[in-house]
Amino acid sequence: MQATAAQNRKAVAELAVNGGPKVRPDPFPGRHMLGVEEKAAVAALFDAAIASGNAFGYNGAAEEAYCQAFAAFMGGGYADAVNSGSNAVYVALRALELEPFTEVIVSAITDPGGMMPIPLLNCIPVVADAAPGGYNTDPDQIAALISPLTSAIVVAHIGGEPVDIEGIMALAKKHDIPVVEDCAQAHGARLNGRLLGTFGDLAAFSTMFGKHHCTGGQGGVVFTRSEALYRKARQASDRGKPFGLPQGSTNCIASLNMNLNDLAATIGKIQLEKLPGLVERRRALVARLTAGLKELSSIRIPALLPGAEPSYWFWRLEVNEDALTCDKAAFCRALAAEGVPVNPSYRAMPHEYDWYVNRRVFGTSGLPWSAPQYKGDPNREFPCPNAIAATGVQFNLGVHESWGKREVEDALTAFRKVEKAYLKMED
Ligand SMILES: Cc1ncc(COP(=O)(O)O)c(C=O)c1O
Repeated sequence: MQATAAQNRKAVAELAVNGGPKVRPDPFPGRHMLGVEEKAAVAALFDAAIASGNAFGYNGAAEEAYCQAFAAFMGGGYADAVNSGSNAVYVALRALELEPFTEVIVSAITDPGGMMPIPLLNCIPVVADAAPGGYNTDPDQIAALISPLTSAIVVAHIGGEPVDIEGIMALAKKHDIPVVEDCAQAHGARLNGRLLGTFGDLAAFSTMFGKHHCTGGQGGVVFTRSEALYRKARQASDRGKPFGLPQGSTNCIASLNMNLNDLAATIGKIQLEKLPGLVERRRALVARLTAGLKELSSIRIPALLPGAEPSYWFWRLEVNEDALTCDKAAFCRALAAEGVPVNPSYRAMPHEYDWYVNRRVFGTSGLPWSAPQYKGDPNREFPCPNAIAATGVQFNLGVHESWGKREVEDALTAFRKVEKAYLKMED
């Protein structure tokens, strides 16, 4: 629907960003992630510790139970609970025993913790652009980067939206390259009915407090269906302890202590029980919002891969700047002023940050890029035009399971209000 100039002027003046009344004066609800169930489980752990006189620790019954529950949730396999998602990526890569100065292909849009483990292993991050029109990478972007130096691929399912992991696995298999799925943002998401994290050789999850399910403040899980890789992961996450090796073996590799602990695992186990319902709720909310947003010409709802069932860590949307008198930034500013939780830009590209640009991994040495053993181009650049283009027009809506009918209605009202103000005029 085209607006007239007079309608536009009135609507612009009424925007909260210009001093008008907010659609949503009170804040959207918090997630209410932690409840009486977690509190009771933690209290029971304390009670047991007090009664026995022995502090709870790590790798105890509680952590074991969480790891088993996690593996069962994934449909079988092995889970090693660690103390962050970054360390889950590190441990997963460590389990692959990569040779130093080889290249690891990694998604452009990711968290620093999804990329930094690569140079910390003395490997070279080779950055795969996003597929056109989205945040996630795809098999074509990765195929263009595969070389004899490639030793692994780390692929992130950003925002809980499945990457074409089937295509990537087929490509990786052809070249005999192992794949780590970075599922930090994708707990419970599926592609063609299969849970993300079950496609790759290993998967890394973050369970910090902002993720779908958490283990308290921080945490992570390494998941694999391979017993051999699980053993390597356990060794890597606990100072090379000879996990799975014959009696009498000693610490077999140098590593750090990246274990989770029984307190965090106690929380995680309860959280895991809530995960399927939470993911369902997010999907239902997105379906309701989709029905409302479809009527608007200011918003494009990006297409998903066929068979994708995201778990919506956030919801990626696109502003149709062609239909508007403003750009995406102004549109999102106006939405936020109405009280809607939006992240206006997800240009989360760790290779644009200082640490990468200045090669600050091991002092000022420039290692691993500067090593004579590295046979690639240490100054190779990864401009990633698709990722930049997508993040230029797309933004994230912070939808989550605690939204109710009122939040959906308020969000849709705010979208309509902002569209009305900025729609291009007829005259
Ligand atoms: C894709 C991705 N990978 C890795 C991480 C690192 O996880 P953590 O913050 O638990 O270290 C995150 C965190 O948000 C992430 O989103």
